[in-house]
Amino acid sequence: MGKDQLVIDAGQKHFGTTVCKSCGMIYTASNPEDEIQHLQHHHRFLEGIKFVGWKRERVVAEFWDGKIVLVLPRDPSYAIKKVEDVQELVDLELGFQQTVPVCPDKTKTFLFIDEKRVVGCLIAEPIKQAFRVLSEPSASKECSRAWRCSDVPEPAICGISRIWVFRLKRRKRIARRLVDTVRNCFMFGCFLSTNEIAFSDPTPDGKLFATKYCNTPNFLVYNFHN
Ligand code: ACO
Ligand code: ZN
Repeated sequence: MGKDQLVIDAGQKHFGTTVCKSCGMIYTASNPEDEIQHLQHHHRFLEGIKFVGWKRERVVAEFWDGKIVLVLPRDPSYAIKKVEDVQELVDLELGFQQTVPVCPDKTKTFLFIDEKRVVGCLIAEPIKQAFRVLSEPSASKECSRAWRCSDVPEPAICGISRIWVFRLKRRKRIARRLVDTVRNCFMFGCFLSTNEIAFSDPTPDGKLFATKYCNTPNFLVYNFHN
């Protein structure tokens, strides 16, 4: 560790709170249990997002700070394995109760690669309908999630089952570029509008992003549990 560490703010609730500059985990360096947990997460996480490059990569977008690689269900097992590893880390972080995509053979996974790491991931799947998030004058406290949606289905084409960006790489437009790329690549020959894409049961971060990206709080959602 050592150089990897950065004390954010000594005034925080737990003195000595540290964020690891490599894996992004926030922990208390003075707490042995926390340190053990960190080391376990650290190795697993860095191994999971490591990307050495593949002989045949389907690069669908390139930027000055990275590229987006598309992985399809019939790709070689090393590519599928990487997607599974990343998805596992994402689900762990999101605490998803494993909502398996409806048609796994139709999912398209987009990985944002920077240097030698996967720093962003978007899993897209075909959908037929979605529901519009309702604007709320005052958020209801009884509701377990931060949004309510209409019960009137609307036709939609592409579902974003998961979207995730490595904690230390957020707010650099990586998610935005992933969604732009999905809209461009999901259906051959057409660029999907924001009314044709929907977000699966968005988290608070996901809601903030989708509201900004779709330019409306009434973006489309699907696959939520009541
Ligand atoms: N708070 C407020 N606004 C936000 C946030 C946020 N946390 N995240 C994004 N935005 C808005 C901003 O307006 C931002 O533009 P700006 O930085 O110029 O102000 C705009 O969205 C675009 O943001 P990006 O930089 O493209 O988003 P980022 O790469 O940081 O990724 C994401 C956003 C994927 C939600 C990230 O925060 C993340 O991985 N969070 C944890 C995982 C998660 O909750 N994912 C969503 C699950 S829902 C689902 O998967 C369908
Ligand atoms: Zn670490």
